[in-house]
Amino acid sequence: MTMKRLLIVGNWKMNGQLAANADLLGAILHPTPACDRVDMAVCVPAPYLAQAQLICQASALSWGGQDVSAHEQGAYTGEVSAAMLQDFKVRYVLVGHSERRQYHGESSSVVAAKAQRALAKGITPIVCVGETLQEREAGQTEDVVKRQLAAVIQQVGHCVSELVVAYEPVWAIGTGRTASPEQAQAVHALLRAQLNAATANAPSIRLLYGGSMNASNAASLLAQPDIDGGLVGGASLKPHDFLAIVAAAQAL
Ligand code: PGA
Repeated sequence: MTMKRLLIVGNWKMNGQLAANADLLGAILHPTPACDRVDMAVCVPAPYLAQAQLICQASALSWGGQDVSAHEQGAYTGEVSAAMLQDFKVRYVLVGHSERRQYHGESSSVVAAKAQRALAKGITPIVCVGETLQEREAGQTEDVVKRQLAAVIQQVGHCVSELVVAYEPVWAIGTGRTASPEQAQAVHALLRAQLNAATANAPSIRLLYGGSMNASNAASLLAQPDIDGGLVGGASLKPHDFLAIVAAAQAL
């Protein structure tokens, strides 16, 4: 039993359009789900932030972005600044998702700068870390995730306690191959220890697990002592599945 409020975050990735988003959000919010013990959010593509704000603003569902620029403003075509996200009252923004690291070459120092930009605008960065299959098999998991997190801890200084951290093993994302609760807990314990060394408030930092979390495996993952929520991709596009994960968190 944990005293912390768990956090379930949907990551829509590059999915959705106006009509489908309205249906999805409507199905999540009506009837109002029991979530007095859980925080829930959806991270939507930037063009739909206004829509998410309009639909979710009077509800228990928060909304967030999927990325933020490492720059404040200026000649960075195609990028979205933290100030722009702030205009749409986002609560969270993902930074360093493995798809950004992998397909857009984001280094840990860029990810750290993004986290800092978000914090400066009062937006909670959800810092994603995780190893590839190759790294896991080479026994490098601990090194990789600690290095990724260390870059952010170093950059944000005393704001470490404002972070949310998501452990997402790359081999588990979108593959249907979830980390076992024990595998996930082992890495979460390492990350917690690293945060403990950085701030006295580490116990209150939420550490999410992500990677093929679904309605049937959520309860056993969320029951682990250092897993404080989930970052949910595919299952967040299905209202029934997303709500089942929220319900699993609520029931703990
Ligand atoms: P998945 O994605 O749940 O579809 O594996 C998780 C994520 O990438 O955040």
